[in-house]
Amino acid sequence: MSSAQKTFYIETFGCQMNFHDSEKVVGTLISEGYAQVQREEDADLIVYNTCSIRDKAEQKVFHRLADFKKLHKEGKRFAVLGCVAQQEGEKIFARAPYVSLVAGSASYRNLPAMLIQIEAGADRVTGLDDRQTDQTFETEFTARTNPHRGYITIIEGCDKFCAYCVVPYTRGKERSRTAQSVLDEARRMANAGYTDIQLLGQNVNSYHDPAGKKTFAELLTAVGELPGIRRVRFTTSHPRDFTKDIIDAIDSVPTLCDHVHLPVQSGSSRVLESMFRDYSREQYLERIAWMKAARNREISITTDVIVGFPGETEAEFRETLSLLDEVGYDGVFSFKYSPRPNTPALQYADSIPDAEKSRRLQVLQEHQRELQRSSCRRHLGQIVEVMVEGKNPARGQITGRTSQNKTLNFVVNGRPEPRIGEYVRVQVTQTFPNSLLGEMTV
Ligand code: 5AD
Ligand code: SF4
Repeated sequence: MSSAQKTFYIETFGCQMNFHDSEKVVGTLISEGYAQVQREEDADLIVYNTCSIRDKAEQKVFHRLADFKKLHKEGKRFAVLGCVAQQEGEKIFARAPYVSLVAGSASYRNLPAMLIQIEAGADRVTGLDDRQTDQTFETEFTARTNPHRGYITIIEGCDKFCAYCVVPYTRGKERSRTAQSVLDEARRMANAGYTDIQLLGQNVNSYHDPAGKKTFAELLTAVGELPGIRRVRFTTSHPRDFTKDIIDAIDSVPTLCDHVHLPVQSGSSRVLESMFRDYSREQYLERIAWMKAARNREISITTDVIVGFPGETEAEFRETLSLLDEVGYDGVFSFKYSPRPNTPALQYADSIPDAEKSRRLQVLQEHQRELQRSSCRRHLGQIVEVMVEGKNPARGQITGRTSQNKTLNFVVNGRPEPRIGEYVRVQVTQTFPNSLLGEMTV
């Protein structure tokens, strides 16, 4: 590596969890004396944080690594992190011999030591054997990119082993941070001016304070009660572990956002059973009923759905559509089933042809768009608080986000323009399935 300032370039794929992992990796690299650069050509170390949750990510990773190959001649070093790194392991060295570091997320707490090894010239450094660890990746050096809204990981890994999912294999076993350490981080963020915090985990509802002090609902409440904090969200939830005290907390603590993302995956109890989801359609609907019974707030509900899981019949697919009718979701993220390495679902044949999966996906998305087209109208005329997120001068609009996690574009109506990160009140004047339009009020 060059003798002057050490530099790195990072590329991140995947979910919020990966994005936030990268913020921690960036902070760690900076604290180890590296400076971040925006072009791979300018970097001594190229870091690639990968995701393999939904598609054939391995192939994409190897293609991207092939692009990087030419830079190797200039003496650059390469690190592959994340789910594909964990899943493919040392095979990455075989296919891309110029890579020096391959590490899964359970090993990131050892990054400083691994960096020292590559700086000393080692060219086969791995962090792949930590998936059974009890330790979490905590660093005071997290390099957050947004100065108002920030993530905090409260639980890593997953012990659920849903039949289609790679996460338990790539991120390892469940391990929670102490409530104390989460609260300390949230307090530091509040002191630094953050007002909006999102608690993260693959399954936040199985949060278990290692010090035994707080349940998940109590931790949520404690973060929501910190001075300066105005919004707290959490993602993602698992219906099996979702308890009613979470809804009670949202109902009674105004800073807890009135939005729950509760992935259902399928509306058919038979399919849910073969997915190893551990709940039936009826049990899922019971959780939805708790949300709808909240006395003080209307809770917005979103979900994830997989179509074309092995053996899903047309009638079972229709049960998912009828579940969408019954719940009245505010948003649905839908995916075609894709077989993932090592997962239990590989025991079933991937029986639904891709064209049929695509058809079901399209039917479901159109169905949901129509439901949202009418359900969003309930917001018409409401005055809601938004956090300002951005500006669109070309359209003379400002973009904000509501507590229910909806995008609300608005005009200021001659009032002074609010700053990004500010909270203002906006009256909704028009509604669309995926966003709202409004005017700022006093
Ligand atoms: N195929 C399709 N979708 C998947 N998801 C997870 N694994 C798969 C898979 N193998 C979806 C689930 C999950 C979301 C994060 O990704 O809906 O909730
Ligand atoms: Fe995957 Fe299921 Fe764990 Fe979610 S709960 S990360 S879908 S195994």
